[in-house]
Amino acid sequence: MKTVGIGIIGGGLMGREIASAFTRWCALVDMPVKPELRAVADLNPAALEWFKQIDTAELLTVDYKELLASDDIDVVYVAVPHNLHESIYLDVLSAGKDLLAEKPFGIDITAAQSIRDAAAESGCFVRCSSEFPFMPGAQRAFEYAKSGKCGRILEAVSGFHHASDLDATKAANWKRLSKTCGEVGVLGDLGMHACHLPLRLGWKPSRLFAQLSKGYPERPDGKGGSAKCDTWDNALLNTWIEIKSQPEHFPLRLEMKRLAPGETNTWFFEVTGTEGGVRYSTKYPKTLETFTRNGSEQQWQRTDLGFGVPFKTVTGGIFEVGFPDIIQQMWAAYLVEREGALGDRFGCVTPDEAVGSQEIFAAALASQEKGTVEDV
Ligand SMILES: NC(=O)c1ccc[n+]([C@@H]2O[C@H](COP(=O)([O-])OP(=O)(O)OC[C@H]3O[C@@H](n4cnc5c(N)ncnc54)[C@H](O)[C@@H]3O)[C@@H](O)[C@H]2O)c1
Repeated sequence: MKTVGIGIIGGGLMGREIASAFTRWCALVDMPVKPELRAVADLNPAALEWFKQIDTAELLTVDYKELLASDDIDVVYVAVPHNLHESIYLDVLSAGKDLLAEKPFGIDITAAQSIRDAAAESGCFVRCSSEFPFMPGAQRAFEYAKSGKCGRILEAVSGFHHASDLDATKAANWKRLSKTCGEVGVLGDLGMHACHLPLRLGWKPSRLFAQLSKGYPERPDGKGGSAKCDTWDNALLNTWIEIKSQPEHFPLRLEMKRLAPGETNTWFFEVTGTEGGVRYSTKYPKTLETFTRNGSEQQWQRTDLGFGVPFKTVTGGIFEVGFPDIIQQMWAAYLVEREGALGDRFGCVTPDEAVGSQEIFAAALASQEKGTVEDV
């Protein structure tokens, strides 16, 4: 098995999650490649402390340029606030390293386009993070939607809901400020999760109408004071999808919410048509629902799925999949595609898809501002 040297820039929530996925790589079978975490860079020395327990991570530094100068690093994963995406991603590419970027792939559309263009020019292998499509239920829903079993598609919904912002005492962080999260707010924070499957299916909206709303204007700053919060927190995008296989457009609703009562990281996808339908939500992580119609009888059928992940593991087929598993599956997809061995398995978000999602967000901002339907 070939070993690939990995560097992480940004050792926060996601940096730690990714590092832990590497430490149980033995769960995967028939892998041509194995990641080895060799360096971590974070401005905050306290964030580096946690990585000391990973023996292979010999370089822990507050200066990410030191990490980029290391010959031991082949691939860099970057998980930093959105205002830093463009400059750090471009530095990674200039250093000749491959990149697994975090969403939203730049603070706005201009940044996303410049990263996409620099990636193409560099020849480096670049993909963007989005793990939920690696859930077995999401994979099955994707295959169903692609198969044509729906007949004429009537409508589709794709979304991602959180509720932790309902707690007004939760401290603000960089994700609640437009300056660091982006003017797109929740669209940049959660939007890629909602857009990945539709874009992979070729469902790029031709136009849309957006309703964006805000949450609490002020929150504790975590240091005894308070901080102003100015980002869009909930987004409903009603979009028009035109596809070659049917004469009529169909509506796709994209939903991203930080204030969705009762929801904790709920990712969902649903398509219904004249002949069939499919729906899946991580709220019921094992269960896929499919619709059939026989004459006058209609039925939604529930199927419990096992551990049917795209990249085989030692885990027994009847067990359940969780968040750490799909993070590992996403990395398997990235590294296997980088080796040219992906075959017909599901790959990570491409730079063009990332720019496609930002085109949707830019149209949504314009729609919200003017109260109009906007071309994407
Ligand atoms: N794929 C997912 O499910 C998912 C989930 C959460 C966040 N994210 C994305 O991951 C990225 C990071 O989010 P997070 O929740 O991990 O944030 P975080 O705030 O927990 O961590 C960010 C880290 O970056 C460090 N940092 C800031 N500036 C730096 C610099 N110049 N050099 C090195 N380190 C620096 C900070 O000190 C911090 O430790 C964002 O793009 C976010 O949208 C993705």
